[in-house]
Amino acid sequence: MIQWRAGSRDSCSHPTGRLSRISTHHFRGRDKLAHPLSTDSVRSSMSPPSESIGRWDSAYHSPVMVEAVLTALGGCRSVLDCTLGGGGHSAALVAAGSRVVGIDRDPEALQSALDRLAEASREGRFSAHLGNYARLDLIDELEGARFDGILLDLGISSHQIDVPERGFTFRIGAPLDMRMGEDVPWTAAELLNSLSEADLTDIFREYGDERRAGRLAREVVRRREKRPFVIADDLVDAIRAVLGAAAGPGDFARLFQAVRIAVNDELTGLAEALPALRDRLTPGGTLAVIAYHSGEDRLVKRAFREWSAVCTCPPRQPVCTCRGRALGETLTRRPIGADESEILQNPRARSAHLRLWRSAE
Ligand SMILES: C[S@@+](CC[C@H](N)C(=O)[O-])C[C@H]1O[C@@H](n2cnc3c(N)ncnc32)[C@H](O)[C@@H]1O
Repeated sequence: MIQWRAGSRDSCSHPTGRLSRISTHHFRGRDKLAHPLSTDSVRSSMSPPSESIGRWDSAYHSPVMVEAVLTALGGCRSVLDCTLGGGGHSAALVAAGSRVVGIDRDPEALQSALDRLAEASREGRFSAHLGNYARLDLIDELEGARFDGILLDLGISSHQIDVPERGFTFRIGAPLDMRMGEDVPWTAAELLNSLSEADLTDIFREYGDERRAGRLAREVVRRREKRPFVIADDLVDAIRAVLGAAAGPGDFARLFQAVRIAVNDELTGLAEALPALRDRLTPGGTLAVIAYHSGEDRLVKRAFREWSAVCTCPPRQPVCTCRGRALGETLTRRPIGADESEILQNPRARSAHLRLWRSAE
């Protein structure tokens, strides 16, 4: 059981000025997110001091928008970092004085963060648990725990992409695996070799934004009848066959990402997790979500909008029973993006969209 369950006034001390500064430096415009490798993106004018960019990087991962996360959560006594990765955000939050509990479904991430934060762990300022943020109820140590700040930095870490055996990359010969953790029941190869053409079409269209999703799904089915998909090259060849010779790394990354989202059931997990995480906030606590994919960001935007509505009764309910009190307020009317200097140093930051929501006092 976590001991430092804060009361309402112990929640993050957000000097209103700091938060309103964030919310005015926001993305302009688009709802559809650009792919990480695309040059087409929108970003904020919020400029973290350039010397602070990269300060929390490790060989494992370079965290994005650390300054903005610190502005939002840095005053919190207790923070749940749901996507520990290399522990960059956690390390920054611990340094800012928060006690941090981290979780990750990837044992390699957990070990890396525990090594990095060994001293804070010994001093009781950091702890880490293997698990899925969508199933917090399965982590006994977190039973009943509430937090002043909760962070979700979605997607995968650089380490997961960099290690070919993990199978997230389209590098020649890499296995089609893509499982983020041992709790994921099937590999990318198993998914590609077994799903129906209709399901594959949905994956390429919904998660990969692919205009020729149906043709690509048909090509996958045609090819797997001759020889099952095993390595990255099998999917790259199918993509090339449908998209033509012009298909390049941006297309491979986008469609591999679509398969990864399906393998790890990422959007369903996020949709289920959001209300459960909201209920883990102390009064006045802040939920911060960094999304890299339009589907993720849409889920977050809708959830925050719904929770911020004054009446939260189902639309067809004739009489209001919620007493017209919003569950909290959305602090970012539009998402915050990374600044150009950060994007230059860390191209992954280009597609990062940070949204913030605060629970009612
Ligand atoms: C973008 S990385 C986080 C990087 C981290 N913020 C840092 O500073 O290094 C995302 C991490 O979330 C983890 N992850 C993704 N989905 C998860 C889930 N449903 N439950 C727990 N961890 C998850 C991945 O394994 C990965 O390590």
